[in-house]
Amino acid sequence: MAGPRATTARRSAPFLAVCSATAGALLLPFMVASAPASAASGPRCDSTEDCLAQMTLEEKAGQMTQVNHTNVMDDKEAIAEYGLGSLLSGGGAGPGGEAGGTAAEWADMYDEYQRAAMQSRLGIPLIYGVDAVHGHGNVVGATVFPHNIGMGATRNPKLVWRAQDITRREVLGTGIDWNFAPAVSVPRDDRWGRTYEGFGEVPRLAKKMGYASIKGFQGHDLGSEGIAATAKHYVADGGTTWGTGEGDYEMDQGDARMSERELRKIHLSPYRAAVRADVATVMASFSSWNGLKMHQHEYLLDEVLKGELGFEGVVISDWAGVRQVEGDSYAEKLRKSINAGLDMIMVPHDYEQNIDAIVSEVRAGRISEERIDDAVRRVLDLKFDQELFDEPFTDRSYTGDVGSPEHRETARDAVAQSQVLLKNDDVLPLSPDSGKDIVVGGKTADDLGYQMGGWSITWQGSGGETTEGTTFWEAVQQETEGTDTNAQFVGTDTGQDYSGDIGIWVGGETPYAEGVGDDGDLQLSQDDTKQLNDICAKTEVCIAMLVSGRPLIIEEELETADAFVASWLPGTEGAGMTDVVFGHERFSGRLPVTWPSSVDQEPINRGDGQKPLFRLGYGLRH
Ligand code: GLC
Repeated sequence: MAGPRATTARRSAPFLAVCSATAGALLLPFMVASAPASAASGPRCDSTEDCLAQMTLEEKAGQMTQVNHTNVMDDKEAIAEYGLGSLLSGGGAGPGGEAGGTAAEWADMYDEYQRAAMQSRLGIPLIYGVDAVHGHGNVVGATVFPHNIGMGATRNPKLVWRAQDITRREVLGTGIDWNFAPAVSVPRDDRWGRTYEGFGEVPRLAKKMGYASIKGFQGHDLGSEGIAATAKHYVADGGTTWGTGEGDYEMDQGDARMSERELRKIHLSPYRAAVRADVATVMASFSSWNGLKMHQHEYLLDEVLKGELGFEGVVISDWAGVRQVEGDSYAEKLRKSINAGLDMIMVPHDYEQNIDAIVSEVRAGRISEERIDDAVRRVLDLKFDQELFDEPFTDRSYTGDVGSPEHRETARDAVAQSQVLLKNDDVLPLSPDSGKDIVVGGKTADDLGYQMGGWSITWQGSGGETTEGTTFWEAVQQETEGTDTNAQFVGTDTGQDYSGDIGIWVGGETPYAEGVGDDGDLQLSQDDTKQLNDICAKTEVCIAMLVSGRPLIIEEELETADAFVASWLPGTEGAGMTDVVFGHERFSGRLPVTWPSSVDQEPINRGDGQKPLFRLGYGLRH
């Protein structure tokens, strides 16, 4: 059972609450008459119990409602009118509803919404969520780290903590107070489009890296210097069965078909570690366990997570996740979800329907007042823990450091430590001043968007120079500038006439997120294979750098190249890749997943008796 969450004096001050409630009752008529709600006058309740005592049922329903900001950006008065508890920016929903935006523009957006929220009757501040899942990837100019699968390859929880502490600072620099990260998924089948969001196929990695992430995001005891972390997606999101996916997806949001013993051993244990780390929130998974949606799973949400594990924070739904629950109406779906243990609903659009449904279900006696009060208490406790009542606006002292050289140095270090050397026939490391001719090509060699992968500026990610960073080719140029090594770039036009001593191909997957990335083949594209073959045919020795969110089927390409590196999804700092290629750093990365020789082996995991191409933990040194 976890110890009590770090509490601020103002979360649960029964004595103070009684005093203020009594005083309030006597003064209320004058207070309401004489102190119109305004940001200038600040909140009109000063502890969880004090707020609860004053809140109407409608206001309580509002606090349980999270809305994508684009739904209120042209009607900010609605935030106070409905007493909305939270806003979010779904992937790519930057200022003005557009993808991107600078840190200062995000901070201005946040502060404007916060001011609007504090116009409500009780002036309760918002809490605002975002997916900063590999750095604050939504924000132009932010430091973008390797996705979790690469961080898992580092086997370095201290580095993960440092990276997440930087992400904390950069998120605070935009005003945002809640990060829907870390995913403590344990991906068991690499065909899943969210494999790269997990740290690896064994719970040990999710536990260690998840714990480090939560401490990096939240700091010692949250407060105004921390951002609320989210352990997600509860539970067994990475254990679904191919072919059971939701809607058009083959696997994502599907059904995890397993015994309770396996669920606890593989998928639940990272949440024990997250609760020990005092994680502030947990996000329910879209997926099901043996046919029952997690969003309505009272046993796992209430009895196990809140009871057995002692989780005292906020359980939030996933994006419109309530709508996937069985039921003839939204109200019925919502009632099942809230009664199962959901405290905050990521609606994220029709907030009036959500509030009306909560109120009507309570009035009909189908959701108890106690359940509502418990949910709202958790939300308010979180806001008091984060000192939002005292410091609701952006701390601009963080804004100028978003994407700073120091932050990028740590990301570059993470990239270097994440690279896994799968093959090396005496080729690596290269010497930058060898005087050799180097030829660099492949679709990813000079594409920052491909280098970052999904959840980067937009939800799905995209190719091109979508933010500030260093591509692999730019890093090679920096590396060889001023030496007598001649570096040539052929891009994807690898069939042209050229020759060289050393060829470097960089290719792999183009960006995707969630179920869009579900892939039953795990093959390289024909163009990729052709470009690799061309480069290797026209140079004396060749190196393959695979940029992907997961293992792909590479037996043929592995044969062709003299050296092969799994680069994962490195993010903005491509120089971390050249740091190991040119020997400034030693290769130290180790596979966080088992690497299949054929897609027919999936799901393939350590200890399942199959013979992989490379085992979990494999990685050459040089
Ligand atoms: C998405 C994802 C979840 C994310 C949320 C908000 O659908 O499943 O990981 O935090 O929506 O963007």
